Amino acid sequence: MTSSTATPYGTLPPASPVATRKPVSLPRLNEMRERGEKITMLTAYDATFAAVADAAGVDCILVGDSLGMVCQGLTSTVGVSLETMRYHTESVVRGIQRVQGTAWIIGDLPFGTYQESREQALRSANVLMQAGAHMVKLEGGGWTTETVRFLVERGIPVCAHLGLTPQTVHALGGYRVQGRGDSADKLRQEALALQDAGASMLVLEMVPAALSAELTLALPRCHTIGIGAGHGTAGQVLVMHDMLGVNLGKNPKFVRNFMTGQNSVLEAMLAYVRAVKDGSFPDNALHAW
Ligand code: KIV
Repeated sequence: MTSSTATPYGTLPPASPVATRKPVSLPRLNEMRERGEKITMLTAYDATFAAVADAAGVDCILVGDSLGMVCQGLTSTVGVSLETMRYHTESVVRGIQRVQGTAWIIGDLPFGTYQESREQALRSANVLMQAGAHMVKLEGGGWTTETVRFLVERGIPVCAHLGLTPQTVHALGGYRVQGRGDSADKLRQEALALQDAGASMLVLEMVPAALSAELTLALPRCHTIGIGAGHGTAGQVLVMHDMLGVNLGKNPKFVRNFMTGQNSVLEAMLAYVRAVKDGSFPDNALHAW
């Protein structure tokens, strides 16, 4: 980002130099889908990175519970609390507001804060909405369908999440591709039910590319956002640390390091937005199953 005065400690300039777009909203996301424009999403967990992502033109910022792993050092997302999600959602929202940003912000409901009852889910969703999120995300199909309907009927936009659902990694037996063979039908039925319940977005994680593309066509009112799901989805999401190469381990197959050849985080995020919008990322031959 360029600014006439130096800004120490990541302090944000008062207005984003590239905030020329209108605020991203559900109607705008629907318009993008209708004209075939891919939706871009990245995770962010703090004010500065969120502001940079917004300045790069990322459409949606997911305050993901992956922060438990990348920020808190947990070995899975299971230990993340609602209070932690509230803190990070507020930080992201402040960052976006400081730069008069326009991204659509999604708050992730953490493990144990929506499974008990629809009322528990509503109370938890309220916390993230009051922290400034525009939408909440929750994982799983089947029993979650009625929870999604309950939230949507009460004015809370919902993003669902099928395939590899990290909060249930222990039940799934590891970070593995989902929806292969016989389980594809279950995934199809769950996705259709979630659309009928009013989910307006659906993250598909580690789902075979052919199945994700098929589901995208079958779900005109629910925008599929892929992560390890091939290029046939309505949009893409990556965990910010992964796409910036801030990972001492081996990146999963579906990740591309967008810092390669770039001089700044802003440039890397701009490259990500370009690659998703022009369809060059993900490459099904490299990043999908
Ligand atoms: O928490 C998260 O960051 C997510 C993404 C992996 C989609 O759910």
